[in-house]
Amino acid sequence: MGTADAVVASITDPPRHTVIATSDGEAIGWAKTYYWNYADEPAPAEHYLGGVTVHPDWRRRGVGTALTAARMNWIFSRAAEAWYIVNIRNGPSIELHHKWGFEEIARAPGFHTTTFTGGIGLLMRALPSRIRIAFRNRQAGSVARLISA
Ligand SMILES: CC(C)(COP(=O)(O)OP(=O)(O)OC[C@H]1O[C@@H](n2cnc3c(N)ncnc32)[C@H](O)[C@@H]1OP(=O)(O)O)[C@@H](O)C(=O)NCCC(=O)NCCS
Repeated sequence: MGTADAVVASITDPPRHTVIATSDGEAIGWAKTYYWNYADEPAPAEHYLGGVTVHPDWRRRGVGTALTAARMNWIFSRAAEAWYIVNIRNGPSIELHHKWGFEEIARAPGFHTTTFTGGIGLLMRALPSRIRIAFRNRQAGSVARLISA
């Protein structure tokens, strides 16, 4: 599935929240949540962050943080926990999400339908009381306009 199809599929799935970051009308990043309505122990039926991608030219300027803050606010307005699955080798993603106090609950080759070929995935959980950071008001994060669906 290409990016455009993935965006449409996410926007048209009601239990999900989709956020697109734009600058001067151009998309520079997008992110989504996903609601699993059944448990796959140890992964529970909960809201998960479902992927965040920032255009390479815009990375390290606060866009991923802005997209994640919008989704975390959305999840915490309707659930007591937020969940996230990541490849153990994805250091940038793990660092980004560290700000919200995500802690490892389990590690495995896959959770639900997400698998990590030849690798290991981490099942992470965040609680509202454990958010660690004060977000910096960086230029790109404030320049980027967020469109939510
Ligand atoms: C992960 C990703 C979304 C980060 O987006 P971003 O806009 O660059 O993130 P931010 O600028 O908001 O960075 C926030 C923090 O994340 C961490 N971070 C981001 N990129 C990093 C990198 N390459 N190495 C280490 N830490 C990184 C840092 O702690 C950073 O804070 P700092 O810049 O003050 O040090 C981006 O690198 C990306 O699109 N990667 C490819 C797709 C992907 O792997 N998505 C995650 C799937 S779970």
